[in-house]
Amino acid sequence: MAITVVVPTFNEGPNIVELVRRLDEALGSTPGAGVLFVDDSRDDTPSVIERVSAEQAARGGLPVRMIHREAPDGGLSGAVVEGLRSVGTEWAVVMDGDLQHPPELAPVLARRGQESGLDVVVASRYIGGGDAGGLDGYWRRAVSTGSALLARSMFPLRLRNVTDPLTGFFAVRVAALDLDTLRPRGFKILLEVLARGKRALAVGEEPFVFGERYAGRSKATLRMGLRYLEQLASLRFGRMSRFAIIGGMGAVWNVLILWALNDLAGMHHAWAAVIAAVVTIALNFALQERLVFRDLLGLGRLGFWSRLAHSFAFNGTEAAIRLPIFVWIVAATGAWPVLVQAVLLVVAFLLRFVFHSQVVYRPRRTQPPFGDTLSSSQSHDGLLGASGTDKRVQ
Ligand code: GDD
Ligand code: MN
Repeated sequence: MAITVVVPTFNEGPNIVELVRRLDEALGSTPGAGVLFVDDSRDDTPSVIERVSAEQAARGGLPVRMIHREAPDGGLSGAVVEGLRSVGTEWAVVMDGDLQHPPELAPVLARRGQESGLDVVVASRYIGGGDAGGLDGYWRRAVSTGSALLARSMFPLRLRNVTDPLTGFFAVRVAALDLDTLRPRGFKILLEVLARGKRALAVGEEPFVFGERYAGRSKATLRMGLRYLEQLASLRFGRMSRFAIIGGMGAVWNVLILWALNDLAGMHHAWAAVIAAVVTIALNFALQERLVFRDLLGLGRLGFWSRLAHSFAFNGTEAAIRLPIFVWIVAATGAWPVLVQAVLLVVAFLLRFVFHSQVVYRPRRTQPPFGDTLSSSQSHDGLLGASGTDKRVQ
């Protein structure tokens, strides 16, 4: 089946020859297949690509094309969109140029999409057999997991079959995309594709092992991390802001109930506080079911009482441990208590939102993570084993 492999590159010269060699091996015999580099490099990468392209043409190998952008727009994501615009085949596979994505998996992703009638097949580091090993450092892994969880909480339906919405490795049916609606910026092109379009795409996943870079260093920066938050904000705050408003109103109910029971009815303030807390949590739960997660009711695995119990348990535990954590942080760091409390409240809010979206109301998957057409011993384990060990080149 004809596919185009779209590879964004920024100063990746030393990786090009090896990448094309492995792609050629994986795809070379496929009629109509080709590689398209979208290059924003400021070094000699374009001339390396041109040379490899000429060599491939001379020996009748996998065709290699390049779009070189003198005035790059939208960074990595912009490059991918520009590449997708000029793809002539029905399917395209987007992958990095540094061999952290095993080239052997490119045709597997596209074939799975075609055979299962999907629009997008995501190569995931976070499902059975996948691994994020190549992310350098504990910190970057934690950021990656946390960012993915937040994205999935904001788009529980669109991302219900996606464990790795931030991966740079995926296959798409090009006609399913509405490229003009995308607003590419920064690194997270897949999230843009899945979350921005008017129509939900049919998405499946394949596991893969994120290997080590072949040469050079990562272009990811803190600025890209901030871009990502901006992108989430511009994509949608809908669900999260409704959740926040209901939580904020909860504080108001709480105080009003306390006042009514204590000041008006003369109840002891401790009892009044307990009742106010319980009523507030119940009220919040009812509002949250109707106003925040209504579209997800009936799609998840938890029934009403179980959702209520989970929500109560989370809120109770969170409230009970926040105070000791607050006291401990202030004692340990000597930081301004007001600031510590503010940060803790924001963190608690995010955790509460992620917990509700990804545990209490999480919709069931509609796609199995592995294509049933590919026997896992032949295609998956073989590829994964290989990319996890001997093909992971330093
Ligand atoms: N054309 C173009 N323009 N390409 C770029 C640019 C740019 O501004 N910035 C980076 N690239 C290319 C790199 O040359 C490489 O081929 C690919 O995009 C990925 O860049 P890396 O620098 O290797 O990123 P990474 O390995 O840290 O991040 C990868 O994993 C992330 C998930 O943890 C990427 O796949 C990210 O997209 C992904 O989110
Ligand atoms: Mn990389």
